[in-house]
Amino acid sequence: AQSERESLLIALGFARDFFVKNLSTSEGKSIGLSYFKERGFSPSIIEKFDLGFALDGWDHLLTAAKKSGYSEEVLLKAGLVLQKEGDPSRIYDRFRNRAIFTIHNISGKPIAFGARILTKEKNQPKYINSPETPVYHKSDVLYGMFQAKKAIRDQDNCYLVEGYTDVISMHLSGIENVVASSGTSLTEGQIKLIKRFTNQVTVLYDGDAAGIKASLRGIDLLLEGGLNVKAVVFPEGEDPDSYSRKVGSQEFQTYLDKQSKDFIGFKIGLFKEEIKNDPIRKADVIREVIQSIGKIPDPLIRSVYAKEASSLLDVEEEIIHAELNKSLLKTQ
Ligand code: CTP
Ligand code: MN
Ligand code: MN
Ligand code: MN
Ligand code: MN
Repeated sequence: AQSERESLLIALGFARDFFVKNLSTSEGKSIGLSYFKERGFSPSIIEKFDLGFALDGWDHLLTAAKKSGYSEEVLLKAGLVLQKEGDPSRIYDRFRNRAIFTIHNISGKPIAFGARILTKEKNQPKYINSPETPVYHKSDVLYGMFQAKKAIRDQDNCYLVEGYTDVISMHLSGIENVVASSGTSLTEGQIKLIKRFTNQVTVLYDGDAAGIKASLRGIDLLLEGGLNVKAVVFPEGEDPDSYSRKVGSQEFQTYLDKQSKDFIGFKIGLFKEEIKNDPIRKADVIREVIQSIGKIPDPLIRSVYAKEASSLLDVEEEIIHAELNKSLLKTQ
């Protein structure tokens, strides 16, 4: 007999095929495919990432899936359909009139979908995503890992971005060692997943206040996980997708190489202007850097960073160590 997991995976595979095929219908071509083309996505990248299209309507997928023998129960459990509020016996497609991003597990099987709105409507969410299901535990998944894992191993580095389209645009720029946290804060499960392939992460979050805040949080979690962390700041309002298209793949690559800083350099860079003539702000930033160093589990690596912080921030190493001991005591 088929396990529940197996039957969900088969239904999700059917949905993937359905969304992909929709791109070749006349509506799919004029709306879905042209949306991807406008974003500069090539036919081969569309195929590589199983990009698709959900037609406008309440039951396109539902009807096709039922015709092929899938039960309503399986479609519900897979997160593909929803129950009508007040009348749970009636169900309808979760993803409607949206561009589809297929989310794969590490062996390349579809386990979930992200669906982007095609217009700029303000009262609708930009993305609608699959819910948690027995085969999709968001906190253990990183978008693009299936397509990236070999390159992450080869390069011994993993670029971490926010969004689906950042992953895809970086592939188009020839950078394949990239995964997305999909706009949620990084989890231990996701960090474990990265550690199967490399111990080095470069955080490339969006160049806005939310992205910077998420970078700072992500950096601490990654350090705590024993990873070697770098980060890059993008110009205000840019993300890896928009910036790579703006400057081209050559200059984008150069930008990453030049701007990649370890977490200390990243933090100092963020606050450089503020701390110039403000000793109190500078002390805050020093404490902030020390706090991150304190997350590092390996004492030897900790002391190497303490030395670096001392020289970059022009603070005596003994003072760094004293503060570090204070903050280590606090977390014990
Ligand atoms: N996200 C989401 N739901 C939203 C907004 C964002 O799930 N309502 C997730 C998506 O995975 C998205 C990521 O957070 O890719 C980053 O969000 P954002 O930067 O707003 O979107 P982009 O990925 O830049 O998408 P686009 O370029 O299409 O605007
Ligand atoms: Mn779960
Ligand atoms: Mn963002
Ligand atoms: Mn973005
Ligand atoms: Mn974007």
